[in-house]
Amino acid sequence: MRLKIERIGRVVRVRLHRPEVLNALDAALMTELVDALAPLDTDPDVGCIVVTGSERAFAAGADIKEMSGKSAADMIAEDYFAGWEAFAALRTPKIAAVSGYALGGGCELAMMCDMIIAADTATFGQPEITLGVIPGIGGTQRLTRLVGKAKAMDLILTGRLIDAEEAERIGLVSRVVPADRLAAEAHAAAEQIAGYGKLAAMAARDCVDRALETGLADGIRYERRAFHALFATEDQKEGMRAFREKRQAVFTGK
Ligand code: CAA
Repeated sequence: MRLKIERIGRVVRVRLHRPEVLNALDAALMTELVDALAPLDTDPDVGCIVVTGSERAFAAGADIKEMSGKSAADMIAEDYFAGWEAFAALRTPKIAAVSGYALGGGCELAMMCDMIIAADTATFGQPEITLGVIPGIGGTQRLTRLVGKAKAMDLILTGRLIDAEEAERIGLVSRVVPADRLAAEAHAAAEQIAGYGKLAAMAARDCVDRALETGLADGIRYERRAFHALFATEDQKEGMRAFREKRQAVFTGK
């Protein structure tokens, strides 16, 4: 097993577990991850997913040993890395809780999550250029959308690694916390998100992601339609009723 999965209330915590290779991401890990999370994605009792690694490594990249001997024909035939999009497409909010190395595919996996909470000891980078290749799990696209051309080019062309503080400054990371607080802070954020109506949370992340893919006018129309649709939910009625009654809302995900 390459994963350790735990369910705490409405939060699912997934720990990548290949310590001997710093959680290098091979095809088996990807399949295991997607197969484990797909059924949870549609479970109304799962409100947030936290993906984490070890203290030393979130993930040190795609598994170099697995791919090094492959031919271009193998890569094309297998559509290598395409399966990761099923992880990105999960609709339940996802938090990456990153300690240690998040390099190459590790950084790309973190970017597929909706938020990155980093330990102050975390290191990010896209060092694929040092291996004679380029990022292949969305790095050139997601990193550029997140941090802009100047920083994306800097990281992808030089392969240099950055610390958590710089990652936060350039907009890659949502929050930096002391390393010994990482698990608690990530869980608290996940619990907060999981405490809201899941339909609203799914719509919120979907609309924010849409902003990275579309023009402003289309994005605003998309958001407005999603906003309107939420008025068909019991959670909208309950949330607004609770506000008027000056009490805490109790969301049911309906
Ligand atoms: N793939 C396979 N094995 C890896 C790995 C990876 N990405 N990263 C580390 N490992 C293995 C090492 O080979 C080593 O195994 P052995 O003991 O059998 O030699 C073990 O993990 C421990 O690693 P190190 O001894 O290298 O540990 P270190 O502390 O000296 O260095 C490190 C840590 C700087 C992260 C270094 O391991 C490293 O540079 N790793 C590769 C980082 C990288 O290039 N990532 C990008 C991969 S390509 C990619 O991700 C493509 C894409 O876009 C998806």
